[in-house]
Amino acid sequence: MTFSVAVSGASGYAGGEVLRLLANHPQVTIGAVTAHSQAGSRLGSIAPHLHALAEKVLVQTTVENLAGHDVVFLALPHGASAEIAAQLPQDTLVIDAGADHRLASAEAWAKFYGEGYAGHWPYGLPELPGHREALRSAKRIAVPGCYPTGAQLALAPGYSAGLLEPQDVVIVSASGVSGAGKSVKPHLLGSETMGSMSPYGVGGGHRHTPEIEQGLSRVAGEPVSVSFTPTLAPMPRGILTTATARVKPGTSQDQLRAAWQRAYAAEPFVTLLPEGQWPATGNVTGSNQVHLQLAFDEHAGRVIVCAAIDNLTKGTAGGAVQSMNIALGLAETTGLTGQGIAP
Ligand SMILES: NC(=O)c1ccc[n+]([C@@H]2O[C@H](COP(=O)([O-])OP(=O)(O)OC[C@H]3O[C@@H](n4cnc5c(N)ncnc54)[C@H](OP(=O)(O)O)[C@@H]3O)[C@@H](O)[C@H]2O)c1
Repeated sequence: MTFSVAVSGASGYAGGEVLRLLANHPQVTIGAVTAHSQAGSRLGSIAPHLHALAEKVLVQTTVENLAGHDVVFLALPHGASAEIAAQLPQDTLVIDAGADHRLASAEAWAKFYGEGYAGHWPYGLPELPGHREALRSAKRIAVPGCYPTGAQLALAPGYSAGLLEPQDVVIVSASGVSGAGKSVKPHLLGSETMGSMSPYGVGGGHRHTPEIEQGLSRVAGEPVSVSFTPTLAPMPRGILTTATARVKPGTSQDQLRAAWQRAYAAEPFVTLLPEGQWPATGNVTGSNQVHLQLAFDEHAGRVIVCAAIDNLTKGTAGGAVQSMNIALGLAETTGLTGQGIAP
């Protein structure tokens, strides 16, 4: 059985990565590919790496162009997808890579995004407890943000096992510049970013903070508060997250390791590396894998977890396709690879 799929935002980085993965997916046919300012262009002129789809022509992102497919991916600036999604038929599987439907709290939405709270959809991170089951019957899926993917997977096992304190969680992530999208911005020019690293959204202001707190709080069963600092790294793609949390008194290194092993032993796309081997973004480039490693800093009383993902694959499009597979009843790994590109 095959499913017809439309991809909006197909001229952007997230939409382009969805197409790269779907081009190799044996159970989908790609229908409409839509854009905004670049509607009318050949896809091959904007994304030449999408060889098999080069002759497709981008059309405007309208409900009419997206309707009539079994699945619609929305890879649009936040705010744009809610309006379109609301007009698509209820039996269409709609998968939103943007933020519009990730937060359960209207208050958190208003604080970090402003107006236009559009409600909350099942969350496309199947590795978090209970989420895979919720995705099985979903017709609407909110794909996690790129930073929250690595950050939540880094710490969730410690909260599931009741080993971590809910306060004083510190997360610092370094992201490749594709995380900011393809539109031209002076601070993202090669001359500004190559050979240089810089923080942004410092002091609790980054929009992914409430999303990370939401996910970890659900797992912990109590409010978890997070200090999150993103940084921009001189690479096209990839995120290396370092997450640290205080461990509960009496917790041992063996208990910590066992909790992470237990959580991810059966997961096809999350790997706790052998002890002593640390994640590197280069090893997961183009792959849907998350590489994790942890250490217990007994002096500081903290667990340190590092997670490497590809922001465009597991951090967006790979997570989206994985969630689509679950919702359509397909094998979860269909069309996805765990093999990275190295060096
Ligand atoms: N980049 C990442 O690593 C990443 C990770 C996770 C989630 N996301 C989310 O995915 C979404 C897309 O991000 P991106 O990085 O792909 O951005 P991008 O590269 O800037 O692409 C944006 C896309 O949206 C289209 N667009 C722009 N304004 C629009 C409007 N008003 N109405 C309809 N379409 C419009 C653009 O079309 P034209 O080019 O034709 O103007 C383009 O196809 C965002 O919500 C982002 O937060 C991105």
